[in-house]
Amino acid sequence: MDHVISNLTMADYEETVAFWRSQIGIALNESDEREPMSRFLMRNPGMSFIARNASGVVVAAVLCGHDGRRGYLHHLAVDPAHRRKGLGRALVESCLAQLAAVGIPKCNIFLFNENVEGRRFWEKLGYKSVTWIPMQRVIAI
Ligand SMILES: CC(C)(COP(=O)(O)OP(=O)(O)OC[C@H]1O[C@@H](n2cnc3c(N)ncnc32)[C@H](O)[C@@H]1OP(=O)(O)O)[C@@H](O)C(=O)NCCC(=O)NCCS
Repeated sequence: MDHVISNLTMADYEETVAFWRSQIGIALNESDEREPMSRFLMRNPGMSFIARNASGVVVAAVLCGHDGRRGYLHHLAVDPAHRRKGLGRALVESCLAQLAAVGIPKCNIFLFNENVEGRRFWEKLGYKSVTWIPMQRVIAI
C-alpha cells in the first residue's frame, strides 16, 4: 500500500486545497474558502476523505455530505501518478458507506460536460446520467 486514507478535516485544509488546485477537472470557488469548508465538514463529520502517500503528501481527496435526504460528492481527484490503482473507487466507496450508514439511499455527483474520462470512471462505479439539468442562482449575501 503506497497511500493511507483518512478522514478529511480542517487540519488538512491548506494542503487539500493546494492539491485540488493542481488537478485538471477540479474547479474551486467561493464555497471552498475556509469558512464554508469548515461548515460543510462540521455538518458532515467523518464523511470526506483524503489519501496521503508514504511521505505524507496529499495524493487524493473527496468531499462528501448530505442534506438529510440526498448525498453529494464534490471534488474527487486522484493525483495522476496514483490513478488506475483503485484509489478513486476506494474513496467513493468510503463515502457511500458513510451515507448508507445514516440511511441516505442515493448520491449525486457533478461533472463538467467535457470531462469524458471522469464520466467513464463514474459509469464504472455504477453512476448513470439523469435527465434533469442543474440550475443555480447567486444569493446576495
Ligand atoms: C476520475 C478519477 C478520480 C479516477 O481515479 P482513479 O483512482 O484512477 O480510479 P480507479 O483506479 O479507482 O478506477 C475505478 C474504475 O474506473 C475505471 N477508470 C478510471 N479512470 C478511467 C478512465 N479515464 N477511463 C476509463 N475507465 C476509468 C478503472 O479502470 C476502474 O475500473 P475497474 O474497477 O473495472 O478496473 C481520476 O482520474 C481523477 O482524479 N481525474 C481528474 C479529476 C476528475 O475529473 N474528477 C472527477 C470530477 S467529478
